[in-house]
Amino acid sequence: MDFTRTAETPQEIAPALRFIEDGLLLIRHGKIEWFGEWEKGKEQVPETVRVRDYRGKIIVPGFVDTHIHYPQSEMVGAYGEQLLDWLNKYTFPAERRYEDREYAREMSAFFIKQLLRNGTTTALVFGSVHPQSVDALFEEASLINMRLIAGKVMMDRNAPDWLLDDAQSSYEQSRALIERWHKKGRLLYAITPRFAPTSTPEQLAMAQRLREEYPDTWFQTHLSENQAEVEWVKTLYPERDGYLDVYHHYGLTGHTCIFAHCVHLEDSEWDRLHHTGSSIAFCPTSNLYLGSGLFNLHKAWQKKVNVGIGTDIGAGTTFNMLQTLNEAYKVGQLQRYPLSADEAFYLATLGGAKALGLDHLIGNFMPGKEADFVVLEPTSTPLQQLRYDNSVTLFDKLFVMMTLGDDRAIYRTYVDGRVAYERN
Ligand code: GUN
Ligand code: ZN
Repeated sequence: MDFTRTAETPQEIAPALRFIEDGLLLIRHGKIEWFGEWEKGKEQVPETVRVRDYRGKIIVPGFVDTHIHYPQSEMVGAYGEQLLDWLNKYTFPAERRYEDREYAREMSAFFIKQLLRNGTTTALVFGSVHPQSVDALFEEASLINMRLIAGKVMMDRNAPDWLLDDAQSSYEQSRALIERWHKKGRLLYAITPRFAPTSTPEQLAMAQRLREEYPDTWFQTHLSENQAEVEWVKTLYPERDGYLDVYHHYGLTGHTCIFAHCVHLEDSEWDRLHHTGSSIAFCPTSNLYLGSGLFNLHKAWQKKVNVGIGTDIGAGTTFNMLQTLNEAYKVGQLQRYPLSADEAFYLATLGGAKALGLDHLIGNFMPGKEADFVVLEPTSTPLQQLRYDNSVTLFDKLFVMMTLGDDRAIYRTYVDGRVAYERN
């Protein structure tokens, strides 16, 4: 199952859904060669090729996680604070450990395994402030030629000294990482100031310089996640016309610029995200967990702003995209927007790819695209089996999978045409 084209409105999603009951997905040298009916395609399978039979399973494009922090895996589920206190109390001490290259290596391996066991084949990832954290992550991802975008966090104020860089060093370290990793295999670099409160104007000017010197890199940060954060930004940058204007002033908006959260946007900010072609990472488990608020997905469609789904580990509470969609549904319900299964799976695959500006490479089964996909088992628990047996339509089956599914529903994950994860 996949979506054959990107959508400008939610109404365009269902007609783009392609479900083939008895299908053939033909892979060659890490690319999709052909996708269609088994009966029509079986003649073209060379005799030497091994056919894997996944009857009873559903094959979907690999999930795209548009926002996640790899140095926060060990602190998921920290109790009782909202964003700014949560950062100081839990996040900064956790990220400090990534100064140790050996620790970063161990955790990179753990992190990539978690992505794969949850069916995620592409992610846009925050490292820590330490460049060696990003080296470790890219080294690990390169072992399986994963399509991964990541960057070293730039932060030069409003955090403990032991976690700060400065404008010049953040520029030099980011530049060295870009030279070392950007476009090496399938790896891509994202310029990554943590958020406006932890960057001086001088540092954001350096981020702008990087983006100008390397215009084909990505950009990621946080935007309007929490009310107190929004107010704080106004006091730190009184000369700017709101939170997004801080980034925009430094040229940090546009295609391949991804802003996490966007829960408390002004109308003019929605318009600016649209006009600049910027994207949003919607992080439902995180927004609920930190009590940040309810992201308005309906408005994003109305304003024609690209949206992908982010797990936002470690403020988010799961690496699993199915569970994340489940929470997205509930966020929608609280706003009278019952997210459909079509839309949910679209956002997790082709929609996420589009939000990252990668829909020409990944996100569906068009021939020539990269062969990243997931084999889902819709009946991986007794309850799922029961509920599946009582589902009639495809919509039902998909919806139940996102409501009840978790990592047990991920049967196999393929990256670059090869099995990268097998359950059990
Ligand atoms: N804003 C700035 N840093 C962070 C972070 O690490 N997590 C989340 N959720 N929001 C942030
Ligand atoms: Zn985040």
